[in-house]
Amino acid sequence: MEVIEKTAILAEKISLLRQAGKTAGFVPTMGALHEGHLSLVRFCRQQNKITVVSIFVNPTQFNDKSDLERYPRMPEKDLKLLKTAGCDLVFLPDEKEIYPETDTRVFDFEGLDEVMEGRHRPGHFNGVAQVVTRLFDIVKPDRAYFGLKDFQQVAIIRKVVKNMQLPVEIVACPIVRECDGLAMSSRNMLLTKTERKKALVLSHTLFKAKAMKDSHTPDSVTAFVIQQINAAEGVDLEYFEIVDGMTLQPATSWDNENGVIGCIAARVGKIRLIDNIEFSS
Ligand code: PAJ
Repeated sequence: MEVIEKTAILAEKISLLRQAGKTAGFVPTMGALHEGHLSLVRFCRQQNKITVVSIFVNPTQFNDKSDLERYPRMPEKDLKLLKTAGCDLVFLPDEKEIYPETDTRVFDFEGLDEVMEGRHRPGHFNGVAQVVTRLFDIVKPDRAYFGLKDFQQVAIIRKVVKNMQLPVEIVACPIVRECDGLAMSSRNMLLTKTERKKALVLSHTLFKAKAMKDSHTPDSVTAFVIQQINAAEGVDLEYFEIVDGMTLQPATSWDNENGVIGCIAARVGKIRLIDNIEFSS
């Protein structure tokens, strides 16, 4: 496994590999890696000759400065995990390598950024699109791997790729959970032991919600989830919405050709967590 910090060197390296007919798969991350990230690396390895992983905590997608400051950083541990997972190239740039000049691009997500995460984190998805398109431009991957843990992020990236006609296939991979149900997240390590227990109400309520599907409407399942989370001490609900899997607009029926997803965001103490569940695909 090779670790590269410079954009020009990485681009050159990948270009040579591609000239030799090798396919490149890419997994963008912000580090503090866990099994969720590593599952993407495994999918990537199965489908591509070369697996490239980037680790870059992208400042332009943090609308909350204290969230950026406390975001966990542990590059040495990450590199060990990536080596064991069989990654070929790690891109570990600093901010100047990604943004030699301030990125002023403003993306049009055709409304996908006006709901849920986008509504609660203004500018977040614009920052995600800036960094992901910049990384795609450097790596020029055949395929790029994203986790459905960030369901809205996948929808946004697909929209950008389609609108900009980027020659990359987006592969969405399932959510990896801890044994007790908590969706894996780099932010979980910032939870205290008590908060970690309280955070379980998110996934457990989503599982119960899914079990209610056959006998309840989306509206009554939504009311149930909101009531459960509001009743949980130390957990502040930001939103729970049951949406169409493509338009991200509220779903009024379970029968929907784009799939139906329930998405939740809540604060446990100071830490903001998200999760989601697929009701139908
Ligand atoms: P990060 O939060 O580090 O996540 C990197 C990738 O891992 C994302 O595609 C995310 O959805 C996926 N992932 C995280 N937790 C997961 C889990 N429990 N199961 C499955 N996949 C999981 O998402 C970002 O970074 C950034 O926004 C990024 C795309 C790198 C742009 O900066």
